[in-house]
Amino acid sequence: MIDGPRLPQTQAWQALKTHYEESRAKTLRQLFGEDPTRGERFCAEGADLFLDYSKNLITQKTLSLLFGLARECGLEARRDAMFRGDKINITENRAVLHTALRAPRQASIRVEGTDIVAEVHAVLGRMADFADRVRSGRWLGCTGKRIKHVINIGIGGSYLGPEMAYLALRPFSQRTLGFRFVSNVDGTDFSEATRDLDPAETLFIISSKTFTTLETMTNALTARQWLVEALGQKEAVAAHFVAVSTNEAKVREFGIDTANMFGFWDWVGGRYSMDSAIGLSTMLAVGPQNFEDMLAGFHAMDQHFLTAPLESNLPAIMGLLTVWYNNFFDVQTIGLMPYASYLKRFPAYMQQLQMESNGKHVDLEGRMVGYETGPIIWGEPGTDAQHSFYQLIHQGTKLIPCDLIGFCRPLSPLERHHDLLMANMFAQAEALAFGKTAEELNAEGSPASQTPFRVCQGNRPTNVILAESLTPRTLGALVALYEHNVFTQGVLWNIDSFDQWGVELGKVLAGKIIPQLCSTAPRLDHDSSTNGLIRRYRKYNDRP
Ligand code: F6P
Repeated sequence: MIDGPRLPQTQAWQALKTHYEESRAKTLRQLFGEDPTRGERFCAEGADLFLDYSKNLITQKTLSLLFGLARECGLEARRDAMFRGDKINITENRAVLHTALRAPRQASIRVEGTDIVAEVHAVLGRMADFADRVRSGRWLGCTGKRIKHVINIGIGGSYLGPEMAYLALRPFSQRTLGFRFVSNVDGTDFSEATRDLDPAETLFIISSKTFTTLETMTNALTARQWLVEALGQKEAVAAHFVAVSTNEAKVREFGIDTANMFGFWDWVGGRYSMDSAIGLSTMLAVGPQNFEDMLAGFHAMDQHFLTAPLESNLPAIMGLLTVWYNNFFDVQTIGLMPYASYLKRFPAYMQQLQMESNGKHVDLEGRMVGYETGPIIWGEPGTDAQHSFYQLIHQGTKLIPCDLIGFCRPLSPLERHHDLLMANMFAQAEALAFGKTAEELNAEGSPASQTPFRVCQGNRPTNVILAESLTPRTLGALVALYEHNVFTQGVLWNIDSFDQWGVELGKVLAGKIIPQLCSTAPRLDHDSSTNGLIRRYRKYNDRP
């Protein structure tokens, strides 16, 4: 859209505005009443994921207009530019090529004359070799003990993906190896993760794209001290520390042998990096073959996004529906409820992916956008969520579209549990869409005095994503689905979904405040609130 009309001036946007006014009063009950087969038609399938989007506040006309908008905004051209390696992250002048991380070995993608697919597979090969050595016990700690615990130290994209994937793929993991994740600079994170571990059996993966992040470097230094003090030798670092980074110089400076470093590239954004070497902990947990299967799932969804017409393209459809709610219904938040305990951290992972990508207020030309961009993403697994916040979704005053994610086959032998779990997911989608009317309550003999309280208006939209089973391949496809969904939204909003300048200011101010927490600090020169908070902190720590 760089040289095109601004979003609200596009023809399709204007048409959508009119269409919204004309159709907004239609309820899901009416829509299903008028078109009883919409549940069979408003579905799409790709990379072994099935999407039922029929319980959305849309008609065929809405969809046609949204696809028209996508085309007017150049979605297909921008998508092709991303896959080609054009520098679409314009504020950082970088290509955006996480799709190359899962390209098959025989593919070729050139960035500044280099075939990056060959580089990707070279790193994958080294990761696999290392993972095999650790998993089989051939990689030993400095005292000759086998590694039993792996601690990933990293934050943001260098933590959320690895933790989410480890938990998601636990049934595929080697149970003799324990995995922990230290992200927060809060010392309790490190202390709790290490309090019952034998350093001689512990391997640290220091994961940081930049190798300069305050939290990660602080935790890494503490880990090094913890290990060296316990094992009494500086040389222990070589057998107990590996690094994942793009910054070889900083890794060397920290004292990690670069032979034990696994690299990636500036064209991989932090929140798009769980399938790069940042996924080393995932590979250690599930093994190289399962990791490869996960990459195959990512790739299958990439191919779907790249080749399927918009009309049957899962990420495009989901992205367009988000724009529809976000910009026409003034929806502020979207719920994400996986009906799978193994996907416990999927919403947290998705928060960074979506909110760091699309939380932007200027367009690609640096102009204030003048329309809403990225929604707030939140969620918890069902059925737990049903017993906490679903009430507000059912009967509150806010419209909250939700994505419900479920799997047909259970991963535990407790099949009955799985039937109950999935029955709940299907029931929630139904209840949210169709609710319960006063007439239905009366017919059931509900006391009239309770009717207003018990009526559920319904008309709450959901997407249901259904897959056969939660496997490495499915997880890859699912993450790629959301990556491209986020991309679709960003293209329509004409924003840079791949930078994150907003997080810098806080980092700079923290850097200034750190020395001011000591009593010897220079005069405080913040606002009266910040000065007061710092003084109170110093007082309780006896630093007058
Ligand atoms: O603070 C935000 C951020 O830059 C994220 O985008 C990134 O995933 C995270 O910090 C961690 O960065 P790094 O991997 O360089 O330590």
